[in-house]
Amino acid sequence: MSIYESGKNMTSLYYALIKAVQVYDLNNDVVQRAAKKFFSYINSLLNIYSRIILVRYRDYIFFNKQRLRFEIDGYASLQFIHDKLKKLNIKSLIFSSGIDKNEIVTFTSIFKEEKETFLKQFSEKKFNHINIEFSTTEEELSDYLHDGERIKRTYFRALKTTKDLMHNLGTGQPVDIRSSKRVIYNLIDALFQDEFGLLALTTLKNFDEYTYNHSLNVGILSLTLGQRIGLDKKNLVKLGISGILHDIGKVIIPKALIYKSQRLTDEEWETLKQHSYYGVKQILKAYGLDELGLISMIVAYEHHWNYDGSGYPAHRQNQKPILFSKIVRICDSYDAMTTPRTYVPIPYLPHLALKVLWKRRNTFFDPILVKVFTQLLGQYPIGSCLELSNGEIGLVIRQNQSNSDLPIIKIVINKDEEKIDGIIIDLSVQNGLKIVRPIYLQKYGINPASYFV
Ligand SMILES: [Fe+2]
Ligand SMILES: [Fe+2]
Repeated sequence: MSIYESGKNMTSLYYALIKAVQVYDLNNDVVQRAAKKFFSYINSLLNIYSRIILVRYRDYIFFNKQRLRFEIDGYASLQFIHDKLKKLNIKSLIFSSGIDKNEIVTFTSIFKEEKETFLKQFSEKKFNHINIEFSTTEEELSDYLHDGERIKRTYFRALKTTKDLMHNLGTGQPVDIRSSKRVIYNLIDALFQDEFGLLALTTLKNFDEYTYNHSLNVGILSLTLGQRIGLDKKNLVKLGISGILHDIGKVIIPKALIYKSQRLTDEEWETLKQHSYYGVKQILKAYGLDELGLISMIVAYEHHWNYDGSGYPAHRQNQKPILFSKIVRICDSYDAMTTPRTYVPIPYLPHLALKVLWKRRNTFFDPILVKVFTQLLGQYPIGSCLELSNGEIGLVIRQNQSNSDLPIIKIVINKDEEKIDGIIIDLSVQNGLKIVRPIYLQKYGINPASYFV
């Protein structure tokens, strides 16, 4: 069993024990059985590792240095333990060899308490095989701004590769397939390292090079959504490439049409719709008929198909798009809505774009995928700007996994409407400060993405 699976099993067994302790008294059979199960599991792990260390770092949980992914399977237990550790201000929880069932039950009975009671009882009762390290808010928050450099480099390298790929296909030059795969692997690494750091970069919307940024952003958003629904690395690579290539057919369409600022005529609209079909041809030319090529072709062809059977190119209503096409459909629409374009110069605020997706679930979009996507981005996605009850304006730089309506923000405009390099605030632990409404930061002549690059 992998260290990752051990961590996942351990957290779900512990979750079961906490739940039992919350409902029954400690001598009850249900509690004793859950404790026995958890104890024997942890004991077998302690034979392999001398210590078991659960660390909460940012929004993640690490089990002996291995990050445990939030997936549908096991989500509740991991989320619960994460939230509990955060509320108790615990950075790491360490179990060592020699622990017995009673120590576990006693600890669990105080672990369920509120912070003050927990702290008091933890110091009163002696725990010989359970140690705790507490975190300080400062060290948590300062980390957010650091170590993003590698992710930025990955993003810009990926942007360059996307550009080269599209340029070469458009001009009939050979395409470097290996480098496009390498880029996806790097993006997946970045995703596992810091999902929100990577997501922040998708707020970059370059007006002149719209198609490149859009293609890459759709690739990244699709990877993030794919990871959340539990796709493995092999499938993520295919999904990432499919996302980047979804609009590749546009390289054949005249630029004047793509960047046209007036309403398209019926004839022009028909030409533009052909990009789904051209996409297949372009991918076939570059990637051939291997699995990666085939999946990307299907996604390029189906990415404007809707959940209810409508959409283009024309198809039978009962012909359903594949999972990857449904993922790209959502990410494509979200990125397009939040990006200024010549014919829609003022984009949707991110939270409103999410509302549109939500409204069109069941018709345009797969309802379950929309739900996961909305949970992933939170009520105010990264890059949103929020007017606060004290008159300041904050930029959302991170989500709180457990509190999607109270993100982590950086103050960028003060009460006197001056641009500042302000402090970082976690709205979920900051009492009294309320969100008044989301606004356009562009109103102050600021591009939100400038804070992330
Ligand atoms: Fe498209
Ligand atoms: Fe697109």
